[in-house]
Amino acid sequence: MNTVVLGLQWGDEGKGKAIDYLAGAFDVVTRFQGGHNAGHTVYYQGRKVVLHVLPSGIFYPACLAVIAHGVVVQPLQLVEEIQNARALGLSLQNLALSENAPLILPFHQQLDVVFEDSRYQRIGTTRRGIGPAYEDVIGRRALFVGDLLQESVFRAKIAPLAEYYNRLFAAYGHASENLDQAIERYLQAGQFLKPHVADTTRLLQRAFVEKKNILFEGAQGSLLDINLGTYPFVTSSNTTIAGVFSGTGLSPKAVDRVIGISKAYTTRVGEGPFPTELKDRSGKELRERGNEYGATTGRPRRVGWLDLVALKHAVQINGVDSLFLTKLDVLDELSEIQVATAYASDSGSDDRFPPHADALERVRPVYRALPGWRQPLGAIRRLGELPRPVRSYLEFIEKFTGVGVSHLSLGGEREQTIEVER
Ligand code: IMP
Repeated sequence: MNTVVLGLQWGDEGKGKAIDYLAGAFDVVTRFQGGHNAGHTVYYQGRKVVLHVLPSGIFYPACLAVIAHGVVVQPLQLVEEIQNARALGLSLQNLALSENAPLILPFHQQLDVVFEDSRYQRIGTTRRGIGPAYEDVIGRRALFVGDLLQESVFRAKIAPLAEYYNRLFAAYGHASENLDQAIERYLQAGQFLKPHVADTTRLLQRAFVEKKNILFEGAQGSLLDINLGTYPFVTSSNTTIAGVFSGTGLSPKAVDRVIGISKAYTTRVGEGPFPTELKDRSGKELRERGNEYGATTGRPRRVGWLDLVALKHAVQINGVDSLFLTKLDVLDELSEIQVATAYASDSGSDDRFPPHADALERVRPVYRALPGWRQPLGAIRRLGELPRPVRSYLEFIEKFTGVGVSHLSLGGEREQTIEVER
């Protein structure tokens, strides 16, 4: 079954663990959007590994791991990530990188930082140059992985772009970087990456025709989608189902199932509205229990109750078939758990997600209190062994969102996962 795995919140839903758990059953695992702003935490041979651009398929030598053209690539970072993975004993012969993946160039990163530190824009980005790189794609100025493999092409294409950005930096009083050194390093990275570079759309289409099992690995979360998220506090790619098709070149016919990942509560990094955020001690406690610190930037995550209004919205826009609920064990010690079932505002109460971040900023969540279970879940391996309040919590979520829970994660290890058979 070709399966899409997507985050349904503001990222950090535990996709790394979920995808790693599922990946073993697939012939192909492909990333289709985002870049090294992502941080997918997995445990490999007892060691914690954080993947940023490499698909989780790299841990399975028989699996083809694809970085498709929807992903923006910073070549120096990718080289480093590959080297780190090789140090773990992985050969990475199974890695394919799209020749059409747009490049994150040095000025993109600089622009991201300049904007973040300016009065023009403060999104709380990962400062990796993701937004500016996608801007160049939309602006029809981008350079691609394929360009990096031919020195003369790369030099000819980057020169006018560098001039454009340098003028911009100069106009606002920012020193521009000396590119000569960076160009050399990028070209060297290109030669390092060359054995992996391929027409990944063709590889994926062939896999589809040959009825191979394909796993589409989403990054970030649906509420960070550039078109459907809490704009402008979003990332710059389509993190929702649409990104699968534009980012790989496969059609909707290639998707059999959509699994949505959600935490049993909610977190968010960066700026932007977050109706169920807990700003008091209980939020701090939940952050510590859940170790809610960014895998990419180390920033403390904002923490709050599960927002079912937002979750249902994400289920609907993605056509989610089932939920993979993570970090349920983080709630173990609570005697009562709240979930938001509607939003109150000056114009009344509504159970629908508002289309604009401004409107979301103004709502107050309406909560429903559910009993906690007050016992550790980490060692439980079967659904029937879960305490009654846990099952009630799950049933409430299922009824509200209209989709069933197919997987439960009760800890960081692969084995701490329960598959719900129906
Ligand atoms: P950017 O993707 O670096 O441009 O950041 C835009 C917004 O998306 C910021 O609020 C980031 O914190 C958020 N973001 C980007 N990548 C991730 C992620 O992998 N997990 C959670 N939040 C993310």
